[in-house]
Amino acid sequence: MDTVNFKAAMRHVAASVCIITTTTRNRDRYGCTATAVCSLSADPASLLCCLNHASNSYAAIIEARTFCVNVLSAEHDGLADWFATNRPADEKFTIGDWRTGRTGVPVLGRAAAAFECTLGQIIDSGTHAILIGQVVEISVGGIEPRPLVYARGEYGQFAPLAAAQRAEGTQVAERRRPAGGKKTT
Ligand SMILES: Cc1cc2nc3c(=O)[nH]c(=O)nc-3n(C[C@H](O)[C@H](O)[C@H](O)COP(=O)(O)O)c2cc1C
Repeated sequence: MDTVNFKAAMRHVAASVCIITTTTRNRDRYGCTATAVCSLSADPASLLCCLNHASNSYAAIIEARTFCVNVLSAEHDGLADWFATNRPADEKFTIGDWRTGRTGVPVLGRAAAAFECTLGQIIDSGTHAILIGQVVEISVGGIEPRPLVYARGEYGQFAPLAAAQRAEGTQVAERRRPAGGKKTT
């Protein structure tokens, strides 16, 4: 399979943007931007994220055994770029409203949601590892944030389709959603 084709096609997979953080035994904070994050099960509450073995954050999470998935709001697009670099970890946390969560990991104020996790199973695959997190604490912003989304190499923000169509004046009968199309998990 051609990597270039694969990457070109994956550009169309829109995803929520997160910053995955941790704090090591030496109290050093690490974090990186990640879109490969997915809900796994509600009972027990668990999620998964895919991190490159080469990232500093991966090594730090393996050591710390805890991590936080901070789901970004549209206002955090600059922070997403900032955490997508491998500048020194302590420099990364000079930007953003960070507090220490119950499990000791960095939690972002005004995140759309933050999931503090203990590290469960690790599944290695190629350059990346799937990290399964057992959720032990959840914070959600008091306001109704617009989640930050990444697709086709750009940041955007989630908006309900009906509102977007009203704004564009493009709603047509075929596009209307049939009743009962609800997500079950
Ligand atoms: C929009 C976006 C999404 C990303 N998603 C992931 C991801 O899911 N997993 C990953 O390992 N890296 C991802 N990255 C790349 C990391 O953020 C980047 O490699 C970062 O420099 C790692 O930092 P660290 O080495 O300090 O941990 C993404 C970058 C961007 C811009």
